[in-house]
Amino acid sequence: MQIITSKEALTLALKNRANIGFVPTMGNLHAGHIHLVSLAKQHADFIVVSIFVNPLQFAASEDLTNYPRTLEADYDKLKVAGVDIVFVPGVTELYPDFDGKNLNQTITVMPSSVADRLCGATRPGHFAGVATVLAKLFNIIQPQVAVFGKKDFQQLFIIKEMVKQLHYPIQIVAAEIVREPNGLAMSSRNGYLSETARTSAHLLSQTLQEIVNAIKDGNVDFGNLENQAAQQLTTQGWIVDYISICAADSLMPATLNDKNLVLLAAAKIDRTRLIDNIEFCAK
Ligand code: PAF
Repeated sequence: MQIITSKEALTLALKNRANIGFVPTMGNLHAGHIHLVSLAKQHADFIVVSIFVNPLQFAASEDLTNYPRTLEADYDKLKVAGVDIVFVPGVTELYPDFDGKNLNQTITVMPSSVADRLCGATRPGHFAGVATVLAKLFNIIQPQVAVFGKKDFQQLFIIKEMVKQLHYPIQIVAAEIVREPNGLAMSSRNGYLSETARTSAHLLSQTLQEIVNAIKDGNVDFGNLENQAAQQLTTQGWIVDYISICAADSLMPATLNDKNLVLLAAAKIDRTRLIDNIEFCAK
């Protein structure tokens, strides 16, 4: 496995390579990321993983500096997973005009208004940051296939829109959520959870499953189901950002005519913001 930090070296290493599978990450890898790699291997012959903690997708109030960086452990996992190249650029490699303080000079990719809802409502600019760094990485790596996890459902939705609307010749493959035995969706952020928070972190996925069961049993009062679930989590110590039943193909609030639904949530337990979702068919 080659570890490459410059665009030039990467371009050289990828010259004449066909069928490249790409898995972008911010590092601090867990079983969910390794699942993305194995899925990439099913679709492509040569696998590139990037590790880059993208400053553009963090708001000033968010903890970019303390985002967990575990490069050596990540390399070990990727080697075992059979990755060919790990691309680990520095900030100025991807943002040449970054002056060390602000990124105001950078050209950004502006996603559609879907990016302003759900997670985007409390994280303005986040998805523009994601789309921008992916546009850069897609241009540098030129993969045939790129793999993303469904845990970040809204991110995946926006990436699919970007690839379609900007005409990237890339197949986007979506990987199912990998969960802990208690249902907690795997995430690098789980590492922030205190011992106490860990014992109640599974309540988010449990609550979502209860809503899905209720809808499948015929309860279609979506607003009431969302409010009750939010109240339930709040009494258990969570700060709920949103719980939203949406149409899976638009990410707009679901109506009774929608059949393919996705229930999405974001909430904080003990200062750690977790997201989760369940896709399902209405009865
Ligand atoms: O999902 C992530 O880890 C990041 O948002 C991504 C896609 C690697 C872009 O920085």
